[in-house]
Amino acid sequence: MASDSRSAQTPSRVTSLRAQGFRNLESLAFEPGSHFNVIHGDNGAGKSNLLEAIYYLGALKSFRGAKTDDLVALDSEQAWLEGKLEGGPAPHNLRIEIGRSQRRRLQLDGKRPRSSSIWHQTVRMVLFHPGDLVLAAGAPDRRRAFVDRMLEQMDPIYSSTLTRYEKALRSRNRLLKDERTDLRSVRAYDAILSKAGAVIAQARERLIEDLAPRVERAFSDVFAGDTPLGVRYLPRVEPKEEAIAEALERSFDKDRARGFTAEGPHADDLELQLHDVGARHHGSQGQHRTIVLALKTAELDLLSERTKMVPILLLDDVSSELDRSRNRRFFEVLSHAGGQVFLTTTHPEFILLEDDRVDFHVEDGRVTRGSSCP
Ligand SMILES: Nc1ncnc2c1ncn2[C@@H]1O[C@H](COP(=O)(O)OP(=O)(O)O)[C@@H](O)[C@H]1O
Ligand SMILES: [Mg+2]
Repeated sequence: MASDSRSAQTPSRVTSLRAQGFRNLESLAFEPGSHFNVIHGDNGAGKSNLLEAIYYLGALKSFRGAKTDDLVALDSEQAWLEGKLEGGPAPHNLRIEIGRSQRRRLQLDGKRPRSSSIWHQTVRMVLFHPGDLVLAAGAPDRRRAFVDRMLEQMDPIYSSTLTRYEKALRSRNRLLKDERTDLRSVRAYDAILSKAGAVIAQARERLIEDLAPRVERAFSDVFAGDTPLGVRYLPRVEPKEEAIAEALERSFDKDRARGFTAEGPHADDLELQLHDVGARHHGSQGQHRTIVLALKTAELDLLSERTKMVPILLLDDVSSELDRSRNRRFFEVLSHAGGQVFLTTTHPEFILLEDDRVDFHVEDGRVTRGSSCP
């Protein structure tokens, strides 16, 4: 997490979070500390719900893939979250209202934001949760989503280009499935796919060039074995407009037969190799966990450097994922993190952080400030 340009980076901090009607959280008035916040409590107490509320404030979605109806407390019709954010050029007030039968309402400093991209540029967060194991062990779409979310937090143009690309891809695929389609109308999408696709692929290429050495270093810091991790961008097609156009043309007959578009950056991957074999199928569970933590550590580092703001780091149940020695090394790395960190755990004694630490206890959805040894 160390970075030479750290001095120019300002940590982004949530200084207050209030919530009503969110999951099992009882009307919440949470005032976290500026550095390490350790949230402990028994299973089912509401720790991940609290982390989910913080994450929702930044990402505008649940990290558990929950729909609005799942987020609103069972006995409520609607929920709201209100957060104060400091660290940027000016403090911000964020307010989100969600309901079972209403559209989501967002307010940034009392006004409706023009786009969700403005929101993502305002509140940046990096999250680790146990479900993230699929980043190392799962299909390429998870790794693409990881890379895309990072780029979306850095670059509003990337966000809008990706939306344009995905929309065109959906339309092209819909037409490909329809046998009555005029083939020219399918091909009409090729220009936008190759143009937007090249912008996306080139941004991914540049990002991964910077990201890869950081992931590899973080992996060896925490894993400390003799197994090196290799990280590389694996574009489906060479990241150039002409190359994508050619690939679309070449596979057109196959696309028609299969009913979907095979070529383009929507089939890219972030290659992860342990000792030159694919980590996805060959890594152990422990190696997968360490890879995911290394990816997140590198994400935090790179986002801090590129945006000059240190994102808020959320770690759900990180210790239960690591053996004792890796846990120790992970907290050694983490103790150098300059930004605000939230960690949940059933065992606060595993959280090997001493300085600048505030503990919170969660029980039945009630959050109280309290010592780590209840
Ligand atoms: N929409 C909801 N309304 C009320 N309770 C909920 C809702 N969604 C989840 N819960 C409750 O929240 C609890 C789980 O909280 P969670 O934060 O995942 O626990 P943990 O502390 O183990 O991380 C469960 O008891 C579950 O029933
Ligand atoms: Mg949990």
